[in-house]
Amino acid sequence: KRRPLVMGNWKMNGRQANNEALLSALKPAVAGFDTIDVAVCPPFPYLSQTASQLADSNITFGAQNLSAQQDGAYTGEVSSGMLVDLKVRWVLVGHSERRSLYGETDEIVAAKTQVALDAGLIPVICIGETLEERKTGDTEVVLARQLDAVLPVIERHPASAFVLAYEPVWAIGTGLTATPEQAQAVHAFLRDRLASSGYAAAPSVRILYGGSVKAANAPELFSQPDVDGGLVGGASLVANEFVGIAKAAV
Ligand code: 13P
Repeated sequence: KRRPLVMGNWKMNGRQANNEALLSALKPAVAGFDTIDVAVCPPFPYLSQTASQLADSNITFGAQNLSAQQDGAYTGEVSSGMLVDLKVRWVLVGHSERRSLYGETDEIVAAKTQVALDAGLIPVICIGETLEERKTGDTEVVLARQLDAVLPVIERHPASAFVLAYEPVWAIGTGLTATPEQAQAVHAFLRDRLASSGYAAAPSVRILYGGSVKAANAPELFSQPDVDGGLVGGASLVANEFVGIAKAAV
């Protein structure tokens, strides 16, 4: 049985005072949720604040990105070693906003996945089709391409070392959620592809759904057999919503 994971991606949001209030509200509310993993991914400048505030909590934390390089002359970048130094557990890799706004290709995503795994961080590898791609019937072709790009990297690691996140681009921040059936169909497709590619631990890989997840739609999404939790954007900034979503995974 796969342990559900509910992860908040704060994106480029937060200030020290808001973070403190949000984390203070989350900590007691999810303290009893011992059958799932709960995590938040704040912006880089707030990782230290998050680390100290969550020191006595069951909530873990991740970063939203990392450099594909090691420490050195890479102005503005953040290395895997720095994340490890800050006791970061997870790192988002290949979020659609990184792909579409910052030019991250499948090759870059694979390189970042490799660097994260080498450092002992758990990459949460994000894949998803655009509305155009879904309309033209290319959903599976696009997802297969994105998955195949990281396969040579992840296949040498146990299922506990990484997480997949299916985030249809058309559902991110739009209020449009994939139906539970649409999500299940894609998650099953991804798991089947991992298995047919020879990855024996495919049944143990956690696959999260992301895209306009809210407390109201989480129960139905998480009840799908291959949906192992959620990657939550907007709703993760609102304590009650995020707690409600996590509760749906318990
Ligand atoms: P929303 O939950 O705001 O749609 O964002 C989803 C997402 O991109 C999480 O990584």
